This record gives sequence, C-alpha cells and structure tokens, in this order.
Amino acid sequence: MSVIYIRGGAPLEGELTVHGAKNSVLPLLAACLLAGGPVTLHNCPRLTDVDAALAILRHLGCETKREGRDLTVDPTGAAGSAVSEEQMRSMRSSIIFLGPLLARTGEAHLTYPGGCELGPRPIDLHLAAIRALGCEVTEDCGIHCQGRPRGGEVYLSIPSVGATENAMLCAVGGAGATTIHNAAREPEIYDLQCFLNALGADVRGAGGSSVTVRGGLPLHGGEFTVMGDRIVAATLLSAAAAAGGRVRLRGVDWRHLSTVLSVLSQAGCHVISRTDCVELRRDASKPLRAVPTVRTAPYPGFPTDAQAPVMAALCASEGCTLFVETMFDSRYRHVAELQRMGADITTEGRVALVRGVERLHGANVEAPDLRGGGALAAAALGAEGVTALRGLKHIDRGYEDLEGMLASLGGGAVRREE
Ligand code: EPZ
Repeated sequence: MSVIYIRGGAPLEGELTVHGAKNSVLPLLAACLLAGGPVTLHNCPRLTDVDAALAILRHLGCETKREGRDLTVDPTGAAGSAVSEEQMRSMRSSIIFLGPLLARTGEAHLTYPGGCELGPRPIDLHLAAIRALGCEVTEDCGIHCQGRPRGGEVYLSIPSVGATENAMLCAVGGAGATTIHNAAREPEIYDLQCFLNALGADVRGAGGSSVTVRGGLPLHGGEFTVMGDRIVAATLLSAAAAAGGRVRLRGVDWRHLSTVLSVLSQAGCHVISRTDCVELRRDASKPLRAVPTVRTAPYPGFPTDAQAPVMAALCASEGCTLFVETMFDSRYRHVAELQRMGADITTEGRVALVRGVERLHGANVEAPDLRGGGALAAAALGAEGVTALRGLKHIDRGYEDLEGMLASLGGGAVRREE
C-alpha cells in the first residue's frame, strides 16, 4: 500500500502550473462520442477517473491514445450503447455518458453510477432532462433509454452540474432547439460549451442559468485545451494558508475561485489575483483568523469541493468558524481524521463548528474521499511533525501527483510503499 509522508512546519515557497480540471475533462471525454472525427484534448491530467472514462470510451468502440497530457479520442468506430455495471461503478460521474450515448445511437443502457462517499447521489434530474428531450426512460434492473432526442424545454429543480451537462450533450445530438432552465453555472459548464462549439455545435448561455442548444448540427473532430482545475488550486492555496509562505499558481482563472480567495483573505492571507495566476502569501508568525461562516452553494457560491481543504487550513486559527455544507449529506468525513491531528471540531448534520487551536500535530490519517484527502495533506503541512496519509486511491482520482506538487512548493511530502 502507498503512503504519503508529510513533514509539517516549514513554509511553502514557489510557483506551479495547475493541471487540467477533472470536472471538465470527464464531460469533455464523454462529449467526444458526438464528434465526427478524432478529437485531441490538451492539458489532460493523469488521474484514475480519467483512466476510467477512457476505458468506457474504448468499451464503446473508440480508439484512445495518451501522449503526455494530450489525449486523442477517435469515436469513428464507436457503436456500443451499453456501459457495464463494473464500469459504471468505477466512477461516480459515469452517468455523464448517458446523454451522448442517446444522441449518438438512439439508445443507452447503463446501471446506477458508482457508490459515493459523499452520501446519496441521485440521478432523477438527469433522467427527467432526458425525458423532457423526448426519450423514453425505463428503470428496470438498470437504466434503459430509447429514442433520438427531439429538443425541448428542460427545467432543473436544482442547478445540477451533471444533469446540465447531460442535457447539453443529449440536446446537441438531438434535432431541434433546447433550452435548459436553472442550469448549473460552474466554469466547467462553460468549458463544455466552448468545446462543443469548437466541434461545430451551437450552444449558448453557459455560465448563466439558461443554456440554449441548436441541436442536430453535424460535428467534426478538432482539438481543445482543458481549463485549469480550480479545486486543485483551492487545495494548494489552503495548504499555503496552513503552512505559511508564498505560493503562486498559474493556469487557473482566479475568478473561478473568488469565494475561496475571499475566505482565505478574511483569514489573514494576502491574496494577489491576476487573469491567469493567483498568489497567496501568509506570515506563519501570525495566526490565521477564524472566518465567521463558510456556507457552500452552487457556483458562483462557495464550492462544496473546497470546503474540506479550507476547513483544514482554519483548524489552526484564532476563533471559531461555522461551516454549513448545503450540497451533500456526508461531506464531513475528513473531520474525524483532522481530530486525530488535534483539531477541535463539532459536527451536527450539515453544520460543523471549528474552534481554532494553536497548531495541529502529525498523525496517521486516512483519506475518506477525494477532497478530504486533499484537506489532510494541507493540514499536515501546517502541523508539527510527520503525518502518514493513506487512502491514496481516493486522492489519485482527482489530484495528479499530489506529493510532487507539494514537494515542488517546498513541502516535505514523499510517497512510499509500505
Ligand atoms: C459535480 O458533481 C462534481 N463532479 C462534484 O465534484 C461537485 O461536488 C458537484 O458537481 C457540486 O458542485 C463532477 O463534475 C464530475 P450535482 P454532480 O449534480 O454533478 C443533487 C469532486 O470532488 N442532485 O451538481 O454529481 C445532488 O444530490 C466532485 O470533484 C439530485 O438531487 O453534482 C446534490 O445535492 C465531488 N438529483 C446537488 O444536486 C440529480 O439528479 C448537486 O449535485 C442530480 C443531483
């Protein structure tokens, strides 16, 4: 089993370019099924979730090739319309193949996506969107969809990221015009719109609450560069806030994490934002200040994926911070691990009260989920002593070479087999 050992206590110093966004490259890979020829995606991170998506594409008949951070997908030979249960379980977001499969083949046979550590991950909004576009959906020992999408009006009761993406992908391949109301506004939705339009589609409005699609246009192949990962950036900045020092991140738009920067700034960090880079400085001789409340919300609110890393940074601070997690039922599983490091946190349902302590200490901890793992690494860099971080299968889903990134910023992090 692999373990990342992290020695805390030293400030971080340095600059790095943040890798491509997991939550953009996954829908982009699914969208390759709609292309009329080979597609090359640049800035694709080496992540196990990306490997899982490539395996599904190959299962469906696509050719895939990786050259460094360039991924090429040729969907010409794709004829499949079924994704196996094992593959659906390999990754929570495998449901994103539903829309493009329907658009390409007129049918889709999937099972419910993989279990998730964050609590129930329903897909009712995905299925309602597909039905609104004229397809038949039956749920009988799996999910079976038939019919070419006709376009229509999709009303999302929650601005679901995945349901917005599935509706966009289904509508692009369908005939007619579609409007998605109460669409998610995350930057990854805008990246998907840019990618689809680069292939010849006509999608507008992404980033706002209403996305329109002129469906049925023939799509060609092409190439596209994936946006930087704003949650990886938030994690690294949280690590710098915890350890102190000066870190500059390139390849990410500071506006995509403005609410995170606001919280870290309120905590006493000095944040400098430019169009394609952000810098955070923190004098470790002065304690961080607690922030009254951090409440997660759909974009442009505070991202739920940054809740754990920012909590990790605020464990050692002056005062109390109240976290309110509005997006998922079980997104405090990192709390028990932070408590092993000396954190003083009380949770009650979707609320967590963090009473700042002077300093955390190293401990044996286990990542409970992807962002909890990033949080524990951030906490370890600010802690006294050495932390042994296990559960790397979660971390490797969404952070490429986490220990390498931290080490390049002067953090004492190394991965060893035990
Ligand atoms: C995306 O998940 C991200 N994953 C998540 O990041 C992120 O936490 C989440 O959006 C919220 O920002 C990817 O993009 C691959 P949602 P998604 O549908 O699309 C409820 C990470 O760490 N809902 O916007 O699954 C749902 O239960 C991951 O990188 C329904 O009720 O999230 C949740 O409460 C974790 N019915 C809320 O909507 C549905 O059909 C938002 O979920 C769908 C969702």
